[in-house]
Amino acid sequence: MPVKIIVGAQWGDEGKGKIVDHLSESVDIVARYQGGANAGHTVVIGDKHYVLHLIPSGIFHPKVTCVIGNGVVIDPIALMDEIRQLQSLNINITGRLLISHNAHLIMPYHKLLDSIREKTSEKIGTTGRGIGPAYIDKFMRVGIKIVDLLDRDTFVSKLKRNIEEKNQILKKIYDNPELDIDSIVHEYENFDKQIDEFITDTSLFLNKALKENKQILAEGAQGALLDIDHGTYPFVTSSNPTSGGACTGLGIPPTSVNSILGVVKVYTTRVGNGPFPTELEDETGEQLRTIGGEFGATTGRPRRCGWFDSAMLKYSAMINGITEIAVTKLDVLDTFKQIKVCTGYTIDGKPLKSYPTDLRTLENVKPVYTVFDGWNSSTKNIKHFNELPLNAKLYLDVIEELTGSKIKMVSVGARRDQTLII
Ligand code: GDP
Ligand code: IMO
Ligand code: MG
Repeated sequence: MPVKIIVGAQWGDEGKGKIVDHLSESVDIVARYQGGANAGHTVVIGDKHYVLHLIPSGIFHPKVTCVIGNGVVIDPIALMDEIRQLQSLNINITGRLLISHNAHLIMPYHKLLDSIREKTSEKIGTTGRGIGPAYIDKFMRVGIKIVDLLDRDTFVSKLKRNIEEKNQILKKIYDNPELDIDSIVHEYENFDKQIDEFITDTSLFLNKALKENKQILAEGAQGALLDIDHGTYPFVTSSNPTSGGACTGLGIPPTSVNSILGVVKVYTTRVGNGPFPTELEDETGEQLRTIGGEFGATTGRPRRCGWFDSAMLKYSAMINGITEIAVTKLDVLDTFKQIKVCTGYTIDGKPLKSYPTDLRTLENVKPVYTVFDGWNSSTKNIKHFNELPLNAKLYLDVIEELTGSKIKMVSVGARRDQTLII
């Protein structure tokens, strides 16, 4: 069966964009299944850096068709910006980008409510892209879908109804100025012409492709621990980044999936608030941030950094059904004299048998570490796994053993060619 799901195994920014781009060489279709422009997936080709937010990371391979599935929430302005940027780079999108008619739209009031809630309620540290409020409308069954853009009358009446309701919330709950209905309607009513050529029933397209035995990569955004059901709630995103989300977010059957690749950074990062047991709020954390360039690809925020957490990874492997892993950013550890790995947690001095899925426990766990000697040499130009320094191989062996997942790829730099296949 030809679907491989690529899932972020930690708190996002594991290097999914790089891995998807690399694997796209040998597939027919790459499909994003959830999230929205909160994602920032970096692809580095030669000395050029590209950051994708909505368009799948297979777009740089001319033979690959890219699909934005029904599970994604789409800000039409962000989408058109991204399309124009790619076109200005002479990347042909026509006929290669398909957008689900059933994907929901992110509108200005979603972004506004996202930012107001961050100021007035418990701060999650969202990306401010309107993700939560857009999914709220989807589940409230008042959301506006991509297909609605094509029927102007329906679109305008739905939009007006939504803005009227949001204006009540803005005025009565948040004491915020109301939005001007006419200017929003005017701004958005012309998207039909710009977007029409890309819209289709992507579930039908993907299921036909499955019958033709085409190879499909399902590209996850965010990471397992940001999952609305299985992550560190409420410090999560509002969708299901875990592998289960791929089937609902694309309209493909679970029986079509034959492998689930977890993308795993060799240390841990997190953007936004929430528990982070192995966080390093010291010089070592700063070193990881500086060497690893750990600043958000979407918001530019500094990422919180810490040691590799195998307790979290074991949990992530379990809920995702990870069959193989791609390890990224090994080169970032090249100069560290000692490297710590969290092998489990204790609470009140007693070891925990499984990953705590309630926030209060997770906030109070103490990580147990094993310390490894570093390798103190550059891995950036290494071309074959066997050439890695012995201590780097031992470190990877430990990751494999502790997480119970087979490593299939090791990334030693941001570029395409800095990838070792095992
Ligand atoms: P994503 O959201 O999972 O696609 O990851 P991001 O693109 O947000 O963040 C990963 C960052 O690490 C990007 O700047 C990548 O270019 C970079 N990167 C990916 N793999 C490697 C690697 O193996 N080594 C180094 N040094 N950087 C990497
Ligand atoms: P990629 O795909 C890292 C985090 C935000 C915040 C929480 C909720 O690049 O790995 P949201 O805007 O989704 O409501 O924010 O989720 N977050 C990410 N962190 N990588 C991402 O995407 C993220 N997308 C959302 O920082 O903590
Ligand atoms: Mg990212």
